[in-house]
Amino acid sequence: MNQTLTLRRPDDWHLHLRDGAMLKAVLPETARDFARAIIMPNLVPPVVTSADAIAYRDRILAALPEGADFTPLMTLYLTEATDPADVVAAHASGLISAVKLYPAGATTNSASGVRDFDKVRPVLEAMAEAGLPLCVHGEVTREEIDIFDREAVFIEEVLDPIRRATPGLRVVMEHITTADACAYVKESDGSLGATITTHHLMINRNHILVGGIKPHYYCLPVAKRESHRAALVELATSGFEHVFLGTDSAPHTQANKECACGCAGVFSASVTMPCLAQVFDEAGALDKLEAFASLNGPAFYRLPPNETTITLEKGQVLEIPAPLETGDGPVIVFDPGKPVLWSVRRD
Ligand code: NCD
Ligand code: ZN
Repeated sequence: MNQTLTLRRPDDWHLHLRDGAMLKAVLPETARDFARAIIMPNLVPPVVTSADAIAYRDRILAALPEGADFTPLMTLYLTEATDPADVVAAHASGLISAVKLYPAGATTNSASGVRDFDKVRPVLEAMAEAGLPLCVHGEVTREEIDIFDREAVFIEEVLDPIRRATPGLRVVMEHITTADACAYVKESDGSLGATITTHHLMINRNHILVGGIKPHYYCLPVAKRESHRAALVELATSGFEHVFLGTDSAPHTQANKECACGCAGVFSASVTMPCLAQVFDEAGALDKLEAFASLNGPAFYRLPPNETTITLEKGQVLEIPAPLETGDGPVIVFDPGKPVLWSVRRD
């Protein structure tokens, strides 16, 4: 008998679904294993108003496979022109679950992000009052700051000041990649949560750069040195209640990844749950996987956990799926580069 592990169905608290042909191709990969996902608003142009979010949600629902049990949790992209009243109304009506802050220029499609944080203060204050979480891409963008230091500097220069200036604001520090962020989350009160991606639990910067450049491991925030990866694994597998899964699964076509100026983003939706089981198994913490993938996220977002379950099975080495064919071109699926002994049971 193979070893099995049954969990409440997981949710993904940070996901890129894109639009059009790409959306159609990648959505089933998430809907197969996950019940809900926080949908990133960094389309071109971004999802800025409630009207944008309604239209995008309807396109996602229309792209779902027949019979899929999946709910997109929508977000708005915070700009310096965002209207606090629109945000509050979108939250009150149940349309949105969070607002996303991208520092301008920090990552893919972030040009409309925030430059002057004073300009968004009224929105942040309204959100604090309403209990609406702010999801944060935590990297500074100043040219002189080394890319490997951008997250740690962000905590000190931006995140901590914002949280102090807006008491009660609920914040999710997304896709954390450093021991500094782990420490900051651990010492914060319950108003701060953090997400960790699948790939940041499995790769460090050597995977990207040693033995030739590996564009499919390049994402933002960029993976850091091994000691940081180890800190992320320790935090994720500890059961700490304010940390949860956000895959940041971010599809780009093979052509847009394998070129002179390749896009940032790792597409991991198809293999995330087996990969996570592998990480938690190696850490001797399979009993903590449900907290990380299925319980801590809903608790932070004040939603009930899912009632249905998923079963993982240990046995054969997982075969990494062939590139996902999309109308825009193939998308390469995350391959951690080592055997994964777990898979999702499909009855
Ligand atoms: C994301 C994308 O491609 O939209 N890329 C990434 O490297 N993570 C944007 C983001 O979340 O930073
Ligand atoms: Zn992302």
